[in-house]
Amino acid sequence: MNYLKGKHIVLGITGGIAAYKSVVLLRLLVKAGAEVQVVITPSGKEFITPVTLSALSGKPVICDFFTANTGEWHSHVDIGLWADAMVVAPATACTLAKMATGVADNMLVTTYLSAKAPVFVAPAMDLDMMAHPSTLRNLDTLRADGVTVIEPETGELASHLVGRGRMEEPEKIAGALNRFFTVGQSLLGKKVLITAGPTYERIDPVRFIGNFSTGKMGYALAAEAARRGAEVTLVSGPVALSRPAGVHVVYVESARQMLEAAEKAFVEADIAIMAAAVADYAPEQYVGHKIKREHDEVDSIRLVKNPDIAATLGKSKRAGQTLVGFALETDNGLANAREKLERKNLDMIVLNSLSDKGAGFGTDTNKITVITCDGETAFPLKSKADVAADIIDCITA
Ligand code: CTP
Repeated sequence: MNYLKGKHIVLGITGGIAAYKSVVLLRLLVKAGAEVQVVITPSGKEFITPVTLSALSGKPVICDFFTANTGEWHSHVDIGLWADAMVVAPATACTLAKMATGVADNMLVTTYLSAKAPVFVAPAMDLDMMAHPSTLRNLDTLRADGVTVIEPETGELASHLVGRGRMEEPEKIAGALNRFFTVGQSLLGKKVLITAGPTYERIDPVRFIGNFSTGKMGYALAAEAARRGAEVTLVSGPVALSRPAGVHVVYVESARQMLEAAEKAFVEADIAIMAAAVADYAPEQYVGHKIKREHDEVDSIRLVKNPDIAATLGKSKRAGQTLVGFALETDNGLANAREKLERKNLDMIVLNSLSDKGAGFGTDTNKITVITCDGETAFPLKSKADVAADIIDCITA
């Protein structure tokens, strides 16, 4: 934990049962040598007393804009500028909504709006609130604004229901902050190309051949690379995700369009990560009108092979460029991934297996093995944001 030493951290606490865990988080941060300023919302004080928090942090806890009896004004601007990082844990649905929309009606949200430093949120709420489109939309907005979401866990909740919404454990939250200070701006000055999402290959104006990729892994990689200071070009197939903060996105539809955009960006790239699930085949002919239903049988649709983007970049790779691929396998994972590493002239390949629970398309988690010509490293199941950090750690190691 020594990267936290001397760091200024604003710990925002909101009104949720998980506030009791914030005491442990505060203790861990202080023990690691960080200076912590607690900012609590009025409802946060219903769950945990400022006395405990100020005793542990060694600083008065800030809740209101003024201290009632002295009239002393608490400057959210000063706190925001003082911070090297801000972490809101627990972050309730209400506070996430206020942060996403800039409703600055308390010290915590006002401080957030003034903070120049990176901000982390650790959501904690009941499963239905967590799964509500409004919460998911607010989290997407915050991600697009550059906030790092420390994903909640699945488990027993305060309501005794079991589901997703438990705040991540304090050790993990402190670990995420520690890692942030460890990696710092390790990709400053580097140009990174990432492909993400599926490709759609048009059959007619209303139908296409595609796959279940949602782009989450590629977008998490783009966000992480940008956070580490890289200039990131994300070539994205059709997905329902918002643009990660500070990332240049080139939107494409088909494999051919993705190849064109990737080849263009690869000329200048130091690192290229091929996270897209490119359709292997496309219809040989595009039918310009909607194919009607009147026939009892449809003539077969002839498919032709799409270009292999990773292999094409592999052929033109210069010395000093790092090319990373993914291999999503159902069986013989290691052997297939190694074969792709060689065939596509990659420097590293990230294997994820569809047979691993929690890994693969659409999930917020992934379980990977990183393979290079020197060997392999297997990682446990983690959030895609953490997996992205692991992959970039491996690339920059
Ligand atoms: N890839 C690519 N262009 C393609 C196919 C794959 O750039 N037309 C990239 C993927 O982004 C990934 C790697 O190559 O980084 C491996 O993709 P995968 O689909 O596992 O491999 P394929 O070569 O398509 O082999 P197969 O489908 O037979 O397993």
